[in-house]
Amino acid sequence: MKNILVANSKGGCGKTTLATNLAGYFAAMGNKVVLEDLDRQRSASNWLQRRPSVLPAIHSYTEYEKHHISKPDWIITDSPAGFRDEKLTEAIKKADCVIVPIQPSAFDIVATSDFLDVLDREKAVRKHKTFVALVGMRVNVRTNATAALNAFMQYTGLPILTNLRNSQVYATGAELGVSIFDLRPSFVAQDTQQWQALLEWVTDITTA
Ligand SMILES: Nc1ncnc2c1ncn2[C@@H]1O[C@H](COP(=O)(O)OP(=O)(O)OP(=O)(O)O)[C@@H](O)[C@H]1O
Ligand SMILES: [Mg+2]
Repeated sequence: MKNILVANSKGGCGKTTLATNLAGYFAAMGNKVVLEDLDRQRSASNWLQRRPSVLPAIHSYTEYEKHHISKPDWIITDSPAGFRDEKLTEAIKKADCVIVPIQPSAFDIVATSDFLDVLDREKAVRKHKTFVALVGMRVNVRTNATAALNAFMQYTGLPILTNLRNSQVYATGAELGVSIFDLRPSFVAQDTQQWQALLEWVTDITTA
């Protein structure tokens, strides 16, 4: 069983978008997937409730906890803004990796920088038991903000998995309870292409 934690203490940076689409991808690949929602806002849980039953199943953490399903292949964990202290430490200890989404804005960069310092102090991260990586979110090329984000991400020395563009398909997916991997491939080709390096990295570090 593999666990990906999606986290950044900064609100609104794309955690739930990343987590729900990761869950959708692994389900589409035929895996048994649990979407764990640590956020009291329950955005990921609400997305799951909206998910059409004809699509590949994604299970809630409650189903797993209550033994309604057997051990999953993947647990994808969405976390809240302001995530810190014992709960963060506990989630990091369980996870194979932490994926941190960041948007191209000065506010996001400063807040994420502080969050990365917090991650750096975690024992599981220091001992390379849990890997940390970055994803640029809502990135439009050729803006100063994007250049600043890329410079920041490079400065951290962490793996930069991908830059996902600002795309309406994510908002549509959120509304309908679907991931981009559930939509017609020709319609989302540019977006699914941007996920490939992220998906390869996750597969590599969890099979190493
Ligand atoms: N790549 C993208 N393109 C377009 N819209 C996006 C993208 N990523 C996220 N969004 C939109 O940005 C908003 C915030 O994203 P999301 O809810 O995933 O952030 P969050 O980090 O989970 O927020 P919170 O801290 O409140 O939990 C949502 O409306 C979402 O649809
Ligand atoms: Mg969220």
